[in-house]
Amino acid sequence: MDEGGSHIRRRVSIRKRNRPSLESIFAAPTAAELKPGDEEEEETVAGSRRRKTVGVQPVKHSDSEEDMFGDYDSFTENSFLAQVDDLEQKYMQLPEHRKHATDFATEDLCSESIKNKLSITPIDNFTELKTDEHTKNQSGHNDVTLEPGADLLYDVPSSQVLYFENLQNSSNDLCDQSAIERDWNSYYHKTVNEELPHNCIEQPQKNDEFSSKIRTGSDMNRRKSVKDDLKSAMTGNAKVQTPIISRSKQLKETLLSEEINVAKKIIESSSHDLGPFYSLPSKVRDLYVQFKGIEKLYEWQHTCLTLNSVRERKNLIYSLPTSGGKTLVAEILMLQELLCRRKDVLMILPYVAIVQEKISGLSSFGIELGFFVEEYAGSKGKFPPIKRREKKSLYIATIEKGHSLVNSLIETGRISSLGLVVVDELHMIGEGSRGAILEMTLAKVLYTSKTTQIIGMSATLSNVEDLQEFLQAEYYTSQFRPVELKEYLKINDTVYEVDSKAENGMTFSRLLNYKYSDTLKKMDPDYLVALVTEVIPNYSCLVFCPTKKNCENVAEMICRFLSKDYLKHREKEKHDLVKNLKNISSGNLCPVLKHTIPFGVAYHHSGLTSDERKLLEEAYSIGVLCLFTCTSTLAAGVNLPARRVILRAPYVAKEFLKRNQYQQMIGRAGRAGIDTMGESILILQEKDKQQVLELISRPLENCYSCLVQEFTKGIQTLCLSLIGLKVATNLDDICHFMNGTFFGVQQKILLKEKSLWEITVESLRHLTEKGLLQKDTLSKSKEEHQYNFHITKLGRASFKGTIDLAYCDILYRDLKKGLEGLVLESLLHLIYLTTPYDLAFQCVPDWMIYFRQFSQLSPAEQNVAALLGVSESFIWKKASGQAVKKKVDKDVVNRLYLSFVLYTLLKETNIWSVSEKFNLPRGYIQSLLTGAASFSACVLHFCEELEEFWVYRALLVELTKKLTYCVKAELIPLMEVTGVLEGRAKQLYNAGYKSLVHLANANPEVLIRTIDHLSRHQAKKIVSSAKMLLHEKAEALQEEVEELLRLPSDFPGIVSSSIEKA
Ligand SMILES: Nc1ncnc2c1ncn2[C@@H]1O[C@H](COP(=O)(O)OP(=O)(O)OP(=O)(O)O)[C@@H](O)[C@H]1O
Ligand SMILES: [Mg+2]
Repeated sequence: MDEGGSHIRRRVSIRKRNRPSLESIFAAPTAAELKPGDEEEEETVAGSRRRKTVGVQPVKHSDSEEDMFGDYDSFTENSFLAQVDDLEQKYMQLPEHRKHATDFATEDLCSESIKNKLSITPIDNFTELKTDEHTKNQSGHNDVTLEPGADLLYDVPSSQVLYFENLQNSSNDLCDQSAIERDWNSYYHKTVNEELPHNCIEQPQKNDEFSSKIRTGSDMNRRKSVKDDLKSAMTGNAKVQTPIISRSKQLKETLLSEEINVAKKIIESSSHDLGPFYSLPSKVRDLYVQFKGIEKLYEWQHTCLTLNSVRERKNLIYSLPTSGGKTLVAEILMLQELLCRRKDVLMILPYVAIVQEKISGLSSFGIELGFFVEEYAGSKGKFPPIKRREKKSLYIATIEKGHSLVNSLIETGRISSLGLVVVDELHMIGEGSRGAILEMTLAKVLYTSKTTQIIGMSATLSNVEDLQEFLQAEYYTSQFRPVELKEYLKINDTVYEVDSKAENGMTFSRLLNYKYSDTLKKMDPDYLVALVTEVIPNYSCLVFCPTKKNCENVAEMICRFLSKDYLKHREKEKHDLVKNLKNISSGNLCPVLKHTIPFGVAYHHSGLTSDERKLLEEAYSIGVLCLFTCTSTLAAGVNLPARRVILRAPYVAKEFLKRNQYQQMIGRAGRAGIDTMGESILILQEKDKQQVLELISRPLENCYSCLVQEFTKGIQTLCLSLIGLKVATNLDDICHFMNGTFFGVQQKILLKEKSLWEITVESLRHLTEKGLLQKDTLSKSKEEHQYNFHITKLGRASFKGTIDLAYCDILYRDLKKGLEGLVLESLLHLIYLTTPYDLAFQCVPDWMIYFRQFSQLSPAEQNVAALLGVSESFIWKKASGQAVKKKVDKDVVNRLYLSFVLYTLLKETNIWSVSEKFNLPRGYIQSLLTGAASFSACVLHFCEELEEFWVYRALLVELTKKLTYCVKAELIPLMEVTGVLEGRAKQLYNAGYKSLVHLANANPEVLIRTIDHLSRHQAKKIVSSAKMLLHEKAEALQEEVEELLRLPSDFPGIVSSSIEKA
């Protein structure tokens, strides 16, 4: 494979901008001139798209449109524990019980008695064992081998086996690290006996000095109580890994923690010496083999990981073709940060589904290696994140949540706790409002924390220099692709291979000579059936289609002509899949899928519900389904590669394909480890030939900042948050910040006619006019550009609620009006207030349906419509096609229509029947629901900042919960686990797994036997995600307890008494 072409580049940025006077600029033309007017397509793909979304989000994005400071985890607060605490407080008031309890901090996490009572498994004895083993180590490391049975050697990490057996050259070694291992081993000899494992949380015996220090502060208020014990027990439960644990497993844990400790020391000593596996314990290598089947790093991965710039923790951008294995490098760097440098890590991924996939994939690493994996997507995530006592956190976030997370860390002065930020699909920085949010996030990290490293990766980067300058990053690239990808074009009956060396970019490959009947020829002029049957059912195939409808038609057409033999391939599993799809959809099944699945074929687009999508993807990834007809969204979505990728036409909707889109789509071809090659075929008509030839020879599209183009979601939001967070509060400082943005780098190309200074002044003027900012005019002596701005209450509410500034005044007005007469007899009025504006502006009601629904409303519900100014007669006139003279606010009418949809959904909790009632795709209804849940949380945070809206707070907490889950209450605890959607939750619940604790303690082998259609892989992922979540919750409670019992640092008497002593 070609490893050539890799190189490293470095750039230094020097920027200066002119500054005209403030007065002259305040009179400048309005920001509207900055806004180009074209609208985003319904479906976009990863690829540079310099377009604005006009404040309207495409449906598929709405599930990623996130709220800020959303905190739904707190809904599940444990009131039982509170009661225990109350009782206990009373009990402790009795004089005979007022004695000092054992120091909490120095206690074992699970006392022996509690362990016995609650059957905590021996893993909780880990601490004692660790110390025991450590004591043994102190007397000489040979002691470790006291029980050198085969079992033990089998269970310990391979580095330790190497160590015991003194092997210098292991055949299992990844990338020939024998020399490195020798160094490691000698280092290990030196350091392993020097100190206790650093990350040993539950050390029962601390040295005197340490424990006395703790006691100074704790004697007054620390006690080990029933509540503590319960919490400890829960923590213990969360840590349960296997019901029975062997001594060798305990030893393995001990050795792991020692390895981590040694690795940490190596890194701290800034030595270039590496540990067994890139400074990491060799258990990491074992886990990659075990969980991902990765036995050996690609050469480029090794080169990249050992770059000087990487060792020096410089910011880095790296770019390789699709399927090049970019993720692994990022993951290893993240593990180094978490385990060795002991810092938190933020990983930003483009879509909710990808975040969830990653959470499931990395939870098992977290459990094995001792770090938290926290989800920041959809309605999940705490702001600011919980401060963990010992273990570090890997936050996996969507772009929107990542931004809110960074804001909350800056606000609480904790940004430097973030050691590393990894951005996958970095080219998305050039994609509309989401790109602007990503840019703001990175710019804020760069500005506020010099110690946070930033790493970005992508397969489709072109103008890397600009990005390098923005991120002050080094660049690494290689053309490596593990599986060769051949690109073909099909014109009429001929297939050509794309060949950059040929004169017109292609060479003849073969003539298609299929024996087609006349009917087939008419139905399938492009030979799709023949092209897919060359591959399926033994290999998988993706057919990209321009529209959603086209996906369904093509799937049906292909199945009409497939031989009956296809029905027999994995028949039982396909039958189970159909059954399962029905189960999760209350007995419903899309007629198209009903017809195509028995042939192993399905369509895949945003019209599916997420439950359906998940089941279909799982079936495809294990080969039960062999063909997906899909829209371009799949190219940027979950990892579903194929042997052959066919592009039905060079269009996405009506627009001609872009180079980036093309690259992402064909990049799905060729599965590492499974296929020996991958191929793509672009079907085109003669008329498009010239354009296609240009497409395949053209470089990737440049990526441009969207910060200013996205006026309300971009630069205005940025300026408001900079002032709100006090990162920069005057014109000088804000301009300085703007200089360091991606826009700052590209300003001369993007907006020649205005300077950065002018643009900043303009947005500040807008924000001031809108009442979101105020100029501090007290310090008259200052120069105009040094005047400080401060955020108003409305500004803070908008900022905290992450409300699009285009709607913040409308939201304020609507809520204010609601105070005058909120109808609480039903949920309709509240739902109306939390129906997302952007979706409402996009909506086109079906007037007949509107009228039908309207006439079924109760008088109280009709009253809501009347209060909003929407009358039955107006709807009737629209439905019967009559002219309407009275002026009615179209936006309100549309928003009410969507509120009807949501209201019906909350009442019936059945997407299918609502989809039928309103004649809307079920996937759209689900996105609407997710969007409303997110927006409801945003409105809640908005209200929290404005005293006049206090009454809404309690109402919105409940409404957000209802919208977030929209299922029967008993399923909610199960659905909190990443990857468990409604259908799966129902199955698990019916099988007796009724709570998070049930799931965390489940045995995957038993699960696959009792739950229909659950693979071993999925079962393991569910159990490890549940363990991780339980562990996080238990730790959070533990932390809460400690916080509660900790003596405040400003407690009267503490300082003075210590001064007195001195
Ligand atoms: N060293 C390796 N050995 C074997 N398989 C590997 C190795 N590294 C990565 N892989 C596998 O290759 C596949 C593709 O890797 P990955 O998802 O990281 O690609 P990528 O570069 O991020 O591509 P894309 O741009 O499409 O996202 C994954 O299934 C991954 O497990
Ligand atoms: Mg990737």
